[in-house]
Amino acid sequence: MGFPEGFLWGGATAANQCEGGYDEGGRGLANVDVAPAGPDRRAVVSGEMKMMAFDPDHYYPAQTAIDMYHTYRDDIALFAEMGFKTYRCSIAWSRIFPKGDEEEPNEAGLAYYEDLFRCCQEHGIEPLVTITHFDCPMHLIEAYGGWRSRKLIGFYKRLVRTLFTRYKGLVHYWLTFNEINMIFHLPWMGAGIVFEEGEGHEAVEWAAVHHELVASAWATKIAHEVDPENKVGCMLAAGAYYPFSCRPEDVRAAQLDTQRELSLIDVQARGYYPRSIQRMLERKGIMLDITDEDRQVLAENTVDFVSFSYYSTRCSAAPTTDAPRTQGNAFAGAKNPYLKTSEWGWAIDPLGFRITMNELYDRYQKPLFVVENGLGAKDELVPDGKGSYTVEDDYRIDYLRQHIEVLRDTITEDGVEVWGYTTWGPIDLISAGTGQMSKRYGFIYVDRDDEGNGTLKRYRKKSFYWYQKVIGSNGADLD
Ligand code: BG6
Repeated sequence: MGFPEGFLWGGATAANQCEGGYDEGGRGLANVDVAPAGPDRRAVVSGEMKMMAFDPDHYYPAQTAIDMYHTYRDDIALFAEMGFKTYRCSIAWSRIFPKGDEEEPNEAGLAYYEDLFRCCQEHGIEPLVTITHFDCPMHLIEAYGGWRSRKLIGFYKRLVRTLFTRYKGLVHYWLTFNEINMIFHLPWMGAGIVFEEGEGHEAVEWAAVHHELVASAWATKIAHEVDPENKVGCMLAAGAYYPFSCRPEDVRAAQLDTQRELSLIDVQARGYYPRSIQRMLERKGIMLDITDEDRQVLAENTVDFVSFSYYSTRCSAAPTTDAPRTQGNAFAGAKNPYLKTSEWGWAIDPLGFRITMNELYDRYQKPLFVVENGLGAKDELVPDGKGSYTVEDDYRIDYLRQHIEVLRDTITEDGVEVWGYTTWGPIDLISAGTGQMSKRYGFIYVDRDDEGNGTLKRYRKKSFYWYQKVIGSNGADLD
């Protein structure tokens, strides 16, 4: 027994990390554009440092990214050559509504994505579309404070109705918010939040959470009304929390971390806030503004499937535990001494992938979709002996092979229902966490460096041919 027939193999990107063309086709400025590369990035993306416009002292990699705004037809042809069944991409909100609060959409932006989706369909590739992948029009941040404002629900409803109507029949799989729990870790990316001096961060984050959750439920409702064939998923930055030790205090710390991170998916998949979170908010004096209409729309419009990114598990220790600490994928925690890490310090844990999927499937009883997984690594371009260049990326193949084996076992042995698997960054793109190009995930190498130099030419890596074989055999040939 192997992967089910029709399993959706593919790759995933985000508009701001690959498109570039930040001021073309009538596009408005967005939060993601002004996230600089370099040491200030972390402070900006976590909402601690205010950066509302470009300044001459920083380099902003999203302005050009890998220029996919112009090269998408060629790049999608390369995905098709690998045999992709699906391609996960995201919409840049400010291409469709440049300021975010207009009455009428920008036709150039709509036409751009229409051609991109048509191109996918011409190749037999099913688009899987993230409506919001870390981006928020800058005007909505300046005028309303980002997702801390309830007003954004209305603007988002207008956006999604426009998308569902225009792309009816072209797109069937939608994700409402990428890694919705990232609001707690990178609030500028997750919700367009920049904190004011002295304000309580948690209260602002939870207000934004509630607004995104309600917006997500409205999107699910509208998607189903416009086209009953639409399937809508939530999206979690996943990774089970292990207790650092079996000391009850560490186990309790892991439980609290799990409750907080999954609480948003609880709402999206079950339709209401879990009691533990309601009590936690009460204890902290955080009052959510939940209307009767909010309660109703949340209860009546749960998602069709649960999608998630998986890079590693996490490890929780009580404050009183003397444990070494680490910072992986924006998640601070204890360092797991049993796991090796990537060059960027992210723990590598294929078995944790199985643990995570079982936890999610047991809890929600909804189909899962793995929409990100992969290894960020430095690559070296070498001659391929045929007049071109390649990368001998056996380390990437090893990582993916181990995870795909675990995925197969989770489906066949544990009975977990999984619709598909899209690796992160099938073509090299800029890193969300660091803004670097040198942190590469792709099967396709892009000639560009961390300072924005390079020809932007594309080269097939060794993993390109390997993944082609994996998909061609529906996951049976992983050698
Ligand atoms: C996920 C995001 O958190 O991880 C992606 O959805 C991101 O946007 C990916 O690129 C990998 O993280 P990084 O920091 O290596 O780019």
